[in-house]
Amino acid sequence: MSSVVVIGSQWGDEGKGKIVDYLAQQADAVVRYSGGSNAGHTVVVNDVSYKLRLLPSGILYRDKTCILGNGVVINPRVVLQEIAEMKAKGVDTSNLLISDRAHVVFPYHEKQDELQEAALGDAKIGTTKGGIGPCYMDKYARTGIRVCDLMNKDILAEKLKRNLAAKNALFTKVYGAEPLEYEPILKAYLGYAEELRPHVTDTSVALGNIFDANKKVLFEGAQATFLDIDYGTYPYVTSSNPTAGNAATGSGVGPRFIDHVVGVVKAYTTRVGEGPFVCELFDTDGPGTYLRNTGHEFGTVTGRPRRCGWLDAFMVKYAARLNSMDALAITRLDILDGLDEIKMCTGWTIDGEPIQHIPADLSILAKAQPVYETFKGWKKDISGVRSYGDLPPEAQAYLARLSEVVGVEIGIVSVGPNRDQTFSLKEFF
Ligand code: GDP
Ligand code: IMO
Ligand code: MG
Repeated sequence: MSSVVVIGSQWGDEGKGKIVDYLAQQADAVVRYSGGSNAGHTVVVNDVSYKLRLLPSGILYRDKTCILGNGVVINPRVVLQEIAEMKAKGVDTSNLLISDRAHVVFPYHEKQDELQEAALGDAKIGTTKGGIGPCYMDKYARTGIRVCDLMNKDILAEKLKRNLAAKNALFTKVYGAEPLEYEPILKAYLGYAEELRPHVTDTSVALGNIFDANKKVLFEGAQATFLDIDYGTYPYVTSSNPTAGNAATGSGVGPRFIDHVVGVVKAYTTRVGEGPFVCELFDTDGPGTYLRNTGHEFGTVTGRPRRCGWLDAFMVKYAARLNSMDALAITRLDILDGLDEIKMCTGWTIDGEPIQHIPADLSILAKAQPVYETFKGWKKDISGVRSYGDLPPEAQAYLARLSEVVGVEIGIVSVGPNRDQTFSLKEFF
């Protein structure tokens, strides 16, 4: 038995999907434990690109069990659309299991997300408008509808009627918006239920059996450490815990089942949506623009341009402690190929004084200034490199310094989007 949790160390889109697909070669099961269709994980195999929002990134392998755990919020429309897209590409999805305890996203969640964002005006969070936050709100208010409810026609009809009445009161009375109709939603969800039924089970039991059979399990994080509802830049966060501790709770296994935590680190920093970003670059013709254009930094889910900046090793160090990371997976190192010089933030100061930890209070965080170290660029195409020793010395120096500041060894390096543009420095299974 062994398991690895793969999590985002920054603000998402680090390449978790790619690293999960790479490590899945050796795994027997891949489990999503948090978030929902707000995630956008791209996996590229033999130059064919697969865009996944809910399906675990192990889905491309016929022989791996893929699980959507209890901690995930499931939009049936999106998951069925993804299943259809996979089938069209010749990918078998019969190995997908969906937790009967996961919560279901309804159209009223998506509408509530839009209305809340609009009402916030300039203070908006910049959500993906997928209804993720409102679905988790209902979960914790204990009014949510779970997959097991979706599987029972009478319970679904009753709970939907009650919830929709409450949501319509909110839409019409608070937001002055139009109500949603009950019958079309019920009809659509009864249809989704039948399509999803073969996949639905108690996934905690299924996963327990997988561990009992001494198999290898990968936990696929969605979102990232600084989007965590507790430890991210609140309120500019998502509504769940992407951090490694939730891999256990969000999939129904105990913490003793987790062996390794791999933090995926993009070789620079990006953020999509609002909120603090200490290393953000605002240039129109400098390194920030280079990173956005060379890295095609536009969101997979929303198409929004991502905010870009230098790698913030100080934040990654904080993330390493929070997640008890034992290896870093560096992605998109190849995007830095064309730069004459590269900077890395190795510390923050506030009022000229170095700080050790990221403050909770955003008014204090707003005063933080990055301390940069400058590295010579390697100015070579590294997309064909397949071992650490073959990286240019300048790239090795950059990674060595990152590992030193963060205090965690480099475990995987990725130099391109394809599965084979990756190499490991250590064994995970
Ligand atoms: P995720 O949300 O963390 O899974 O990341 P996304 O899939 O949203 O964004 C990462 C993007 O970078 C995807 O388009 C990947 O195909 C791509 N990618 C991953 N690793 C590398 C890499 O090492 N080099 C390059 N050039 N692209 C990469
Ligand atoms: P992956 O798994 C990047 C951001 C949104 C917004 C905030 C809240 O692909 O890395 P939400 O819809 O979750 O309520 O939005 O979180 N966000 C992400 N940013 N990658 C993601 O997922 C994200 N999921 C949510 O942009 O700022
Ligand atoms: Mg993404």
